[in-house]
Amino acid sequence: MLTALARVIDPEIRKPITDLDMVAGVDIVDGRVRVGLRLTIAGCPAARQIERDVQRAAESVAGPGNVTVDVSVMTREQRRAMTEKLRGGAEARGNQFGPDSLTRVYAITSGKGGVGKSTITANLAVALAERGLRVGIVDADVYGFSIPGLLGLVTPPSPETGKAAAVKPTQVGEMILPPIAFDVKVISIGMFVEDGSVAVAWRGPMLHRTITQFLTDVYFGDLDILLLDLPPGTGDVAISVGQLLPQAEVIVVTTPQPAAADIAERSGVVARQTGQTVYGVIENMAGIVQPDGTVLELFGSGGGAEVARRLGAGQESPVPLLAQVPLSVPLRSGGDTGVPVVLGDPHDPAAVAIRLVADRLATRARGLSGRSLGITPKQGAAPAPRRSAGADPA
Ligand SMILES: Nc1ncnc2c1ncn2[C@@H]1O[C@H](COP(=O)(O)OP(=O)(O)OP(=O)(O)O)[C@@H](O)[C@H]1O
Ligand SMILES: [Mg+2]
Repeated sequence: MLTALARVIDPEIRKPITDLDMVAGVDIVDGRVRVGLRLTIAGCPAARQIERDVQRAAESVAGPGNVTVDVSVMTREQRRAMTEKLRGGAEARGNQFGPDSLTRVYAITSGKGGVGKSTITANLAVALAERGLRVGIVDADVYGFSIPGLLGLVTPPSPETGKAAAVKPTQVGEMILPPIAFDVKVISIGMFVEDGSVAVAWRGPMLHRTITQFLTDVYFGDLDILLLDLPPGTGDVAISVGQLLPQAEVIVVTTPQPAAADIAERSGVVARQTGQTVYGVIENMAGIVQPDGTVLELFGSGGGAEVARRLGAGQESPVPLLAQVPLSVPLRSGGDTGVPVVLGDPHDPAAVAIRLVADRLATRARGLSGRSLGITPKQGAAPAPRRSAGADPA
């Protein structure tokens, strides 16, 4: 019976309910089974589904009609024990993506705003999840969060204001469960403000605290890849991320305009000052092939390659231009409707370009190899090899 119940997965925490101590007991009397189910919180949004799954799992053993599910709610103590177990013990509390974590962390940055960071982050995440990787996004753009909308994590517009709000995460004790869209776990400041459209005007220390909280209190579980969507520019958030996640690698998004190269380069340089390496550059809004076969380069050309060249000159290994994502109506409209183009229109040229980046990231090994340790080598010391040979094709 417990084997059957172990197949029931809590849809939010994504673990078997038996591992979460949610099965309070199983009584079998005269062939009739009574399962005690302990929900993590009262009004748990997934309660119905879990109850149904438990019923079905128990009936698969005891036969239809022979199962009663008694639903109760964990006490505060039980909940604390469960969340502590999930986090790997009380002493393990802290940044889930600390130095021992095997999760690859990529911070998506740009110098200028509006170059498509969030659109690319959302699509890349979904494309990676589609490949079977465990993926999370931290929307660290506290001023202009847009990830919930891009992934359809919004409620229907309110009749009074006409505005949609980001869905709220479930909170279990001190643990926050990130909402999941297209198999991607997502946390965003937009989920914590009352009116989803309010721009949050925060100062450095508060930003730092919020990002710290995202990395400690939000239960991501063991991820293969975490993507961070940063606000444009080289401000407080980029510096906080550099301090909290020195192993993060940076992906710089830029437009093809040669004039944008200077400012895009700066975002990569700031990342390196905080101990991060630049993994690559994505040029977005590149030329679009027209029906007559000619290419319309609305934003010029060459910007991405130029930024990659300049950033590569500043670190041991070259910085590749990972993709040139063309201007695309389906990419834009997929963002507006909350269905990323990589799923909604996978053959669109922009989707194809983003999927190639996902392929490249997906083939990198998990692990600590080649990570920057966030330590600046002493002057004159020989630079350590950046990545172990063979483990990483990039
Ligand atoms: N390749 C593209 N083709 C067409 N439209 C695009 C493309 N990339 C992004 N967009 C559109 O450009 C706008 C800005 O994109 P997005 O919000 O992703 O940029 P951002 O860099 O995250 O902006 P911000 O700096 O404000 O956070 C959006 O409306 C998006 O749909
Ligand atoms: Mg953005």
